[in-house]
Amino acid sequence: MNYPVDMAVHPEVTGFFDEATNTISYIVTDPASDACAVIDSVMDIDYAAGRITYGHADAIIAHIREGGLRLEWIIETHVHADHLSAAPYIQQELGGRIGIGEKIMEVQETFGKIFNEGTEFQRDGSQFDALFVDGDTYQVGEMACFAMATPGHTPACMVHVMGDAAFVGDTLFMPDGGSARADFPGGDAGELYDSIQKILALPDEMRLFMCHDYGPGGRDIAWETSVAEEKANNIHVGGGKSREDFVRFRTERDRQLAMPKLIIPSLQVNMRAGEVPKDDDGRPMLKVPVNGL
Ligand SMILES: [Fe+2]
Repeated sequence: MNYPVDMAVHPEVTGFFDEATNTISYIVTDPASDACAVIDSVMDIDYAAGRITYGHADAIIAHIREGGLRLEWIIETHVHADHLSAAPYIQQELGGRIGIGEKIMEVQETFGKIFNEGTEFQRDGSQFDALFVDGDTYQVGEMACFAMATPGHTPACMVHVMGDAAFVGDTLFMPDGGSARADFPGGDAGELYDSIQKILALPDEMRLFMCHDYGPGGRDIAWETSVAEEKANNIHVGGGKSREDFVRFRTERDRQLAMPKLIIPSLQVNMRAGEVPKDDDGRPMLKVPVNGL
C-alpha cells in the first residue's frame, strides 16, 4: 500500500497525560484552519465505586473552546483495554465524528460473546460514525489525513497520520518502552511486528506520538519520538530485530503480564464507542464475566 504521506504539513499537537491510566490523549490542530481532531480521549472511572467522571475530557474540551477551535474528528486508535473512552461526552459538547478501524466488528464479535451481550448488541460497528479501512483518507480542515491498518495488539488497531505527525496507538512505545502486548483475544505478535515495520517505513523525521508511557526506569513521562529514533533505539524492534526473535520475546513476555486493571469496564464501554451499556431498566450497568477472559 502506498500511503499519501505529506511531511510539509506540521499540525500543532497538544498532549494530555492521564495519570490514572498512563494514557496520552491528543488535540491535533490543522495549521491552515481552526479545525482539530481529538485522539484517544479518556473518561475517568473509580471502578471500586462504580463512579464515572469527566475531569480529563473537560480539560480537552476547555482547551478546544479557549482556542476557538472546531472539533471535526474524535478518533480511537483501537478498542482500548486499559481506559474508557470519553468520545460520546466530547461529541455531545463539541460535535465531531467518532471513527475507528473497521475491524472493530471482529472485536465486537469476540467480546460480544465473552460478555454475553445478546442480540441487541450490534456487531457491525454502527455505534461509530466512521469505520476506516487501510489507506482511507479524510480531512481535518484542510489537512489531509490517512489511516494505516496496524493489527497485532488488537485486530482493529490503526495508526492515524496527519501531516508529519503519526499517532501510533498501542503498537510502539517510546524507544526505552519497546512495544505493546499482543496476547489479548485477536492479538498476534507476528502481525504486530509486521505493523511496526509499516510505521518504521514512514519517513525518518515523522513525529510519532505514543498512546501510553510508563516512564521506565523512573524517567519523566514522555510521549513524542520519531521514526529514526525508534528504528535506531527501540528496545524490542530497533536495530533490525528479526520477526522470529520479536515473536519469541513478545510471546514469553506476554505470558508474565497481568490483565490491565480496567480491562473489564474498558472493553464493554469502548466496543460501544464509549457508551456505558444499560440494563433491562435502562440504567447504566457493567458486567464481570467470571473466568471469561
Ligand atoms: Fe491498547
